[in-house]
Amino acid sequence: MIQLRNVTKEYRTDGTAVAALRSVTLHVAEGEFVALVGPSGSGKSTLLTILGVMNPPTAGDVIVDGIDVYDLSLERQADFRHEYVGFVFQQLQLVPYLTALENVLLPLAVARLSRREKVQRATEILARVGLAGKERRLPGQLSGGEQGRVAVARALVNQPPLLLADEPTGNLDSATGAQVLALFRELHRQGQTIIMVTHNPETAAFANRLIHIRDGQVISESRVISAKTGHNGKAPAQLTRGLSPARRGYSDDLLASRRSISRPMTA
Ligand SMILES: Nc1ncnc2c1ncn2[C@@H]1O[C@H](COP(=O)(O)OP(=O)(O)O)[C@@H](O)[C@H]1O
Ligand SMILES: [Mg+2]
Repeated sequence: MIQLRNVTKEYRTDGTAVAALRSVTLHVAEGEFVALVGPSGSGKSTLLTILGVMNPPTAGDVIVDGIDVYDLSLERQADFRHEYVGFVFQQLQLVPYLTALENVLLPLAVARLSRREKVQRATEILARVGLAGKERRLPGQLSGGEQGRVAVARALVNQPPLLLADEPTGNLDSATGAQVLALFRELHRQGQTIIMVTHNPETAAFANRLIHIRDGQVISESRVISAKTGHNGKAPAQLTRGLSPARRGYSDDLLASRRSISRPMTA
């Protein structure tokens, strides 16, 4: 689905260059639920915005379903982004004076659908994230977890093949954050491809594949056989075969104890 080849990103400010990504090569297949994990400043958000066709790399290629997306004109990039990507931000960025329904309708502004069809679609997606009956509430009249679900509904209303989320639970307490993550798992089960950025190993544990980023590079990967929140609600059975903590560069008890199969980070 998405292939990154030797993607490098440098930011230049006042003559100094910051290397945010250094030759990142990776492949994400359709239907995966991927967590990009790493400490603050490691380049996760840069990688996510590059995947989301919002931030051109300094070098390297981003191929989505065979299309070299940064080779497209800016206008076509915008079209592509609109059709292909839904984005959930850490600050959720709901419009406070619009209802849940109106917030979800926003991305449909330019869609060639009648008002009635738009409302129907937005209502359906709100129901899908568990907010049936709350369409007319303002964000301030919803709990944090419900606001998170409105943000997810808004990201998905255009039916994008790819859902991107940058620290989607960063501003939520852990119980409400877990609700949003459970929703991601459910969407993943229904076939949605999801790439989520987090510095929090507990959040990453909801994904099926972890890509560890450090200093702008992919340092390791692990696959999760049985992800968190399985049917019985118990912690997943675990099997770790391991990269040394030094090579993982991101040691923490939770990940160390997870049952994941590590594999070399080839493309
Ligand atoms: N727009 C920008 N201009 C200049 N430097 C940036 C910009 N965005 C990010 N950076 C720098 O690039 C590096 C990676 O940042 P980022 O991708 O936001 O990391 P993360 O999301 O892992 O915290 C950091 O050193 C950050 O300061
Ligand atoms: Mg970030």
